[in-house]
Amino acid sequence: DTTARIAHVFRGTFVHSTSGAAVEILQNCVLGVDDQGKIAFIENDRDEESLSKLWGFGASDIKQLGQHEFLMPGMVDTHIHASQYSYTGTALDLPLLEWLNTYTFPVEAKYKDLEFANNVYTKVVRRTLKNGTTTACYFATIHTDASLLLGELADKFGQRALVGKVCMDCNSAVPQYKESSSECKEETDRFIKELLKKKYPKVKPVVTPRFAPSCSSSLLSELGEIANNNKLHIQSHISENKGEVELVKTLFPGCKSYTDVYLKHKLLTDRTVMAHGCHLTDEELEIFHETGSAISHCPNSNISICSGMLNVRNVLNHKVKLGLGTDVAAGYSPSMLDAMRRTLDTSKALTIQDPQHKTLSFEEVFRLATLGGSEALSLDDQIGNFVVGKDFDALRVNVCVPEGPIDLFPGEGPKVILEKFINLGDDRNITEVYVAGRQVVPFPDT
Ligand code: GUN
Ligand code: ZN
Repeated sequence: DTTARIAHVFRGTFVHSTSGAAVEILQNCVLGVDDQGKIAFIENDRDEESLSKLWGFGASDIKQLGQHEFLMPGMVDTHIHASQYSYTGTALDLPLLEWLNTYTFPVEAKYKDLEFANNVYTKVVRRTLKNGTTTACYFATIHTDASLLLGELADKFGQRALVGKVCMDCNSAVPQYKESSSECKEETDRFIKELLKKKYPKVKPVVTPRFAPSCSSSLLSELGEIANNNKLHIQSHISENKGEVELVKTLFPGCKSYTDVYLKHKLLTDRTVMAHGCHLTDEELEIFHETGSAISHCPNSNISICSGMLNVRNVLNHKVKLGLGTDVAAGYSPSMLDAMRRTLDTSKALTIQDPQHKTLSFEEVFRLATLGGSEALSLDDQIGNFVVGKDFDALRVNVCVPEGPIDLFPGEGPKVILEKFINLGDDRNITEVYVAGRQVVPFPDT
């Protein structure tokens, strides 16, 4: 059936991950995107003539990628606090629980003010899109209206997003920054209903208990029920820092582990993504595997506030889904390229500690930032790589932009070019961004 029309055709080099290969480099190929934003074909350019007849496009419709250019799938930030973006790059001198009470809760309390929210949320959506984040899994704040605004802005700028209204009913050092458990439940219901009513094609709600220490047992149960009844995504935090793990033991004495707390409250599903997991035991990882729950690895955050070092290799060996996250603002960079680099650094630090540890490769972290993230968010049927029928979420990368951060030398092939982009590249190299076939970067207003 070729009734769909072709909206874009690219010719050149395409880099993505497949079920078999962490990096597959396709050279001299043509990729077509239909007017629904889906990948219609990806074939060798030898077949261009028959494709152009079949799909009805002409030579002048083809966007030719240059010698130093390639297309890659958009990056998936599986964990980012949109509400913390204003102080990104600061306030990294306290461990988690003190950091939350001292810096985070006072700032998040300001999102009662929609003007404040509009300013920060506009900036974080634009910043992450420019850096190649085509899908973001966002924490907002406890405020329903500001959280709805974040969804509206993601839709407006064309970012694919899961948006979470944060739920917390206890243990906040900022008295005005929490809700009663009935408010949490009612406002979560309202948030979901109103966000779904907007029918944004790429923005969906995610049920968001902040983390076990911020939530009563009854609140956790209610949120589990809401998520399961409506088949919604769930996000939270787990085993980020050792003090937190100890606190959860005292708060939930009837539970065997931190993972058991979420399991008992029916919050571990195949649509769940839990940030961090630095201190999970193998037994807990086994529960993640069995429930199909995912981990978001946020290495910048883990190092910046001295939380721990997740052994990604061990998580992957347990066949637990894993994506990368920036965790702005405990992570000080909103860029997923940074998340890839910190993932490599952390993996190398683990190898320094234990030479038996098998260091992650740059190809593996590329996979985690793209296809792995899509799996972690259970969106891999829609996004994550260049497979016919998936949505076209893609970055046009040029490693040789004027005054850019990368120098190339003779004889460097596409694999070296990819490695240089991962280690040295920045948003100047990401010249175009597409989400579901719509070009969203450069911004229409610039
Ligand atoms: N645990 C609970 N809330 C947070 C948060 O906002 N940031 C991080 N890094 N960990 C958390
Ligand atoms: Zn977080």
